[in-house]
Amino acid sequence: MRVYIFDTTLRDGEQSPGVSLNVKEKLQIARQLARLRVDVIEAGFPFVSPGDFEAVKIISREVKGVTVAGLARTNFNDIDQAWEALREAEQPRIHTFIVTSSIHLQYKLRMTPEQVIEAAVAAVKRAKTYTNDVEFSAEDASRSNLNFLCQVLEAAIAAGATVINIPDTVGYATPNEFARFIGEIRQRVRGMEKVILSIHCHDDLGLAVSNSLAAVMAGAQQIEGAINGIGERAGNAAIEEIVMALRTRRDVFQGETNVRTEEIYRTSRLVANLTGMNVQHNKAIVGKNAFAHESGIHQDGVIKEPTTYEIMRPEMVGVSHSDLVLGKHSGRHAFRLRLSELGYTLSSEELNTAFERFKNLADRKKGITDRDLEAIIEEELRLIPAKYNLAYLHISSGTTIIPTATIGLKIEEEAHVGQASSLLEEAACGNGPVDAICKAIDKITGYSCTLLTWGINAVTEGKDAIGEVTLMITSEHNKKTYIGRGISTDVLEASARAYVNAVNKLIWELGEGKRPKN
Ligand code: KIV
Ligand code: ZN
Repeated sequence: MRVYIFDTTLRDGEQSPGVSLNVKEKLQIARQLARLRVDVIEAGFPFVSPGDFEAVKIISREVKGVTVAGLARTNFNDIDQAWEALREAEQPRIHTFIVTSSIHLQYKLRMTPEQVIEAAVAAVKRAKTYTNDVEFSAEDASRSNLNFLCQVLEAAIAAGATVINIPDTVGYATPNEFARFIGEIRQRVRGMEKVILSIHCHDDLGLAVSNSLAAVMAGAQQIEGAINGIGERAGNAAIEEIVMALRTRRDVFQGETNVRTEEIYRTSRLVANLTGMNVQHNKAIVGKNAFAHESGIHQDGVIKEPTTYEIMRPEMVGVSHSDLVLGKHSGRHAFRLRLSELGYTLSSEELNTAFERFKNLADRKKGITDRDLEAIIEEELRLIPAKYNLAYLHISSGTTIIPTATIGLKIEEEAHVGQASSLLEEAACGNGPVDAICKAIDKITGYSCTLLTWGINAVTEGKDAIGEVTLMITSEHNKKTYIGRGISTDVLEASARAYVNAVNKLIWELGEGKRPKN
């Protein structure tokens, strides 16, 4: 049986607390999702914000070979706006939803069951005037009265819905119960055989993937989820886990997806980098330890025969196996070749800066691995023009002195128009060296930002490993949050790079017109 994968990383996933992606970042993720070959990309909820509208519009225009969906409540303004955003898509889908559980009807919607059916029917009919591909979701379906739910679904199908989605909105279901529920819906709802039956599970009890797979065994044909399992509260079902479970245990699930699993790891990295939501080390499929064998007995077994302890090969999900690939004597040709083997195509300008970063790193670190290269490229392939770049950093810190940072930032644009100086310098004291760095950068840019989170990951093993700092700032200019990422073998340099990256995103979004006076 063919199982369709509906990716909602850019809609439900972006509803993760603290996550906010700009249009360019969303487009980059959508392009990668198309490469991964998911069937549907839910690109956003166009009515809720101009940013979402813009993202759905651009993704619809630019990303082809995949269905692009836009979410809409049942009111006509939502649906009309969703269509406005989707109209240039090759395969547009309007996804409309209304809640069906009595708890929500009573306290949230204050609607009668009859009014809900009426609204659902009207919404599907309205959406049908724009596109044939209309998905209807009954929010909180798993806690709804089955008889009433079946009536709503039947009415939505009669009105023209082509996909019927059953969400476990609050992650309350258990696998057996959810499978039975799906089985009942399939049997009872007239017309169900003509449409695609979809499910959408949340992970509040850690059961989203299990519930999704149980539903497939009960006949669900479309699974909704997000990369790395991000999403509202505890998140959505993790797409990479579902896809690999279906592939590895085809004997049990008998379902096949169209996903190119070799793109999974890269997609996971991209989503983690752009959302700032790091993947836990022991996370299935894409965690750092997912294919690491620590015990000697296991290592011995894997060397003799990988299948002794590996049920999947790392290459199947795109995890590179080569250890040490390049060193300080490697030239530009070897560098470019390895990058193209890893799937990166860089413009010559991008290649020059990336090569410079590589040489710099090779001076400080003995062997450069694929993971190091990926980290460099991910930092260099900036999606937005960087107004500021770190020129230098000087720190004085210790147990008995006040931490002080002196920072030099290059202003790229001003260098282009030939101004005498493109370097701005400031010094600041702080509670710690990172605080001092942020304050010195704020003094230069004129933007006063608050550091909300700061975290570091070692990209590879060893004392000379690259440190990858991911941080989140908020600005008093618009109260939004921005994620920044920076890498270096020096954690303070990585912090400065990450902070500058986040501030560059803020500046790009605010536009030069709203720039504060220095
Ligand atoms: O969780 C949910 O119910 C949803 C719907 C809008 C599909 O995200
Ligand atoms: Zn959801």
